Amino acid sequence: MISAPAYDLEKVRADFPILSEEVRGHRIAYLDNAASSQKPRAVLDAVDHVYETGYANIHRGVHVLSERATEHYERSRRRMAKFIGAQSADEVIFVRGTTEGLNLVASSLGRYALGEGDEVLLTGMEHHSNIVPWQMVADLTGAKVVAAPVTDRGELDMDAFAALLNDRTRIVSVVHVSNALGTVNPVEEISRLARERGAYLVLDGAQAAPHLKLDVQRLGCDFYCLSGHKMYGPSGIGVLWGKKRLLEAIPPYQGGGEMIRTVSFERTTYAEPPAKFEAGTPNIAGPAGLAAAADYLDGLGIPEVAGHEARVREYAESRLSEVPGLRVVGTAREKAAVVSFVVDGVHPHDLGTVLDQEGVAVRTGHHCTQPLMERFGVPATARASFGLYNTEAEVDRLAAGLRTALEIFRP
Ligand code: ALA
Repeated sequence: MISAPAYDLEKVRADFPILSEEVRGHRIAYLDNAASSQKPRAVLDAVDHVYETGYANIHRGVHVLSERATEHYERSRRRMAKFIGAQSADEVIFVRGTTEGLNLVASSLGRYALGEGDEVLLTGMEHHSNIVPWQMVADLTGAKVVAAPVTDRGELDMDAFAALLNDRTRIVSVVHVSNALGTVNPVEEISRLARERGAYLVLDGAQAAPHLKLDVQRLGCDFYCLSGHKMYGPSGIGVLWGKKRLLEAIPPYQGGGEMIRTVSFERTTYAEPPAKFEAGTPNIAGPAGLAAAADYLDGLGIPEVAGHEARVREYAESRLSEVPGLRVVGTAREKAAVVSFVVDGVHPHDLGTVLDQEGVAVRTGHHCTQPLMERFGVPATARASFGLYNTEAEVDRLAAGLRTALEIFRP
């Protein structure tokens, strides 16, 4: 039995309408939070509130609805600045999500900072969205992408990482929490090492934001990205945070309306950040939902949420260790709420399909981390990832579903 969280779990579950859905004749056991988390009523209401009371295009109209929509949008920006510990709301760029944030940084910082022979240092546990954009800008600039190795436990090999940092390393870009393994990387130590070499540090915080209290200034990075949909907010909205002087220095990512000061056919001058990086009509109502998600998480307390998730994960690791032939992939000492695993003789997709029949949702596949899967010699894993609302009973259903899969595939 795990101890109860510091909040009322049943009451919290009731805040999430979808958790009472039945799928395939069972109450849903949603264990796919690393892919996307479910939304509390407060988030749904916050988005509706914009559409119902203050929706129009933002920053453009002189009419009341445009002013209201702009106020919702900018209030949300201030809220997210506070959520991540930014010095000012001008450092918060609203993006579609972490993927867009990383593409923006790779393109803009890459064109600003990289030249022939320069290096971008990543790790072997990056998501494709923190690999491919750097390869794209490396192709343009003649820079090289290098990856630090991962140990058998799924931790970053810090000695190898330090040894790979050199005078050509201009940018270090690292995942804060691994989506495939759950490893929490020592980003403050990484930041210290990067700073010693004068390299810029970019952090992919997609999996960190729902589980760790963020303070971008204390982390010592230059850019930080997160996705709303993984932290109980809407999809299609996220944050790229950057240090103000860098946002001022790097070129814009996309051109279009609202990101300019003046345009002529001879020459265009750009607006100040954040407008400089928000070309075109953005996701107008999404930020209000994201701000409501930040309120929701802070209302429960992120340390309390993380404590509950850690207990559920440890319980899951213990229950899964009883399943014959199951091996957990990723046993880092510092881990967030992820358990990735393989079972001898049963393909992860088959495990996922049997679990779905039991109403248990997990993700199976390479988790957009093909180099990491190759490192561990597996084509794919099954992954259970926990959120603030998951229960011990749901873990029991996961373990029972796996036994059913074994009976079918390994009779
Ligand atoms: N990156 C997300 C995941 O890990 C989609 O599932």
